[in-house]
Amino acid sequence: MVNAAQRPTRVVVIGTGAVGATTAYTLFLRERASELVLIDVNHDKALGEALDMNHGLPFTGGVKLWAGDYSDCKDADVIVIAAGSNQRPGETRIDLLKRNAAIFDDIIKSIVKYNDHGIILIATNPVDILSYVSLKKSGFPVNRVIGSGTLLDSARFRYLIGQNKKINPRSIHAHIVGEHGDSEVPLWSIANVAGIGLEFTDEEREDIFNRTKNAAYEIINAKGSTSYAIALALDRIIVSILQNEASVLNVSTLLKNYNGVSDVYLGVPCIVDRSGVREILDLDLNETELAKFQASANKLKEQIANLDL
Ligand code: 2OP
Repeated sequence: MVNAAQRPTRVVVIGTGAVGATTAYTLFLRERASELVLIDVNHDKALGEALDMNHGLPFTGGVKLWAGDYSDCKDADVIVIAAGSNQRPGETRIDLLKRNAAIFDDIIKSIVKYNDHGIILIATNPVDILSYVSLKKSGFPVNRVIGSGTLLDSARFRYLIGQNKKINPRSIHAHIVGEHGDSEVPLWSIANVAGIGLEFTDEEREDIFNRTKNAAYEIINAKGSTSYAIALALDRIIVSILQNEASVLNVSTLLKNYNGVSDVYLGVPCIVDRSGVREILDLDLNETELAKFQASANKLKEQIANLDL
């Protein structure tokens, strides 16, 4: 009999475009799960990615990886959704809503047909709204439907602050909250290194935040899509889940009476463990941050109101 410690862990990645394939490759290289399954409407694409990665097995570890179908969700611990269109140059994430919401109906139905215990991790944009859609359509408890949220934005913010201060970004503690998109909010009031607040001029703040917020536009203009850093952010969330880390990560979750905001998914600091989002941490926002956070929530709620859920 296989005991709990030996039970294989399985991650399913739905959508093998730039984000899905890079995420799978990151998980594969870092051996985050014993089984990885790739699913794509274009099965040949999933097959090609799986073959290409499997040919690297003699140089890596022992992950079992294959191109599968939705029945493989049955034993999945985490199901990553990276399917759908990505932004074309000039498009916002919200511009993708109609196109991507339409395919989520089928995706979520297909997942819940086979799985009733896993965690759904959404990366497709607009990620906060599609996480809300996934929650409503799946009937899963809220802790098990997570959006990648502002974890990537916070990483970009930390990288740029690190560049400015000439300090490794891992030692910079700084958060972006709200929408993963144009209305996101930088929490300058709590940015710190070793608990010491950081000083910036107004120009520096504006430059760092604009480059954080516009990073995806810059990359999409230059190379067509983003993939590496979002893959690492998803990897980070998945490890915190599978290894029951209880790390604090700015993921997207359903808010209820949180800084005056309810019934919308937004990126906020959450404790992430084997149960998914275990707890949302309270934030002490200053007046400006609070107003921006509420405006970000209202922007997304307007979009949700137009959806047929
Ligand atoms: C990103 O921020 C496009 O949402 C994607 O890289």
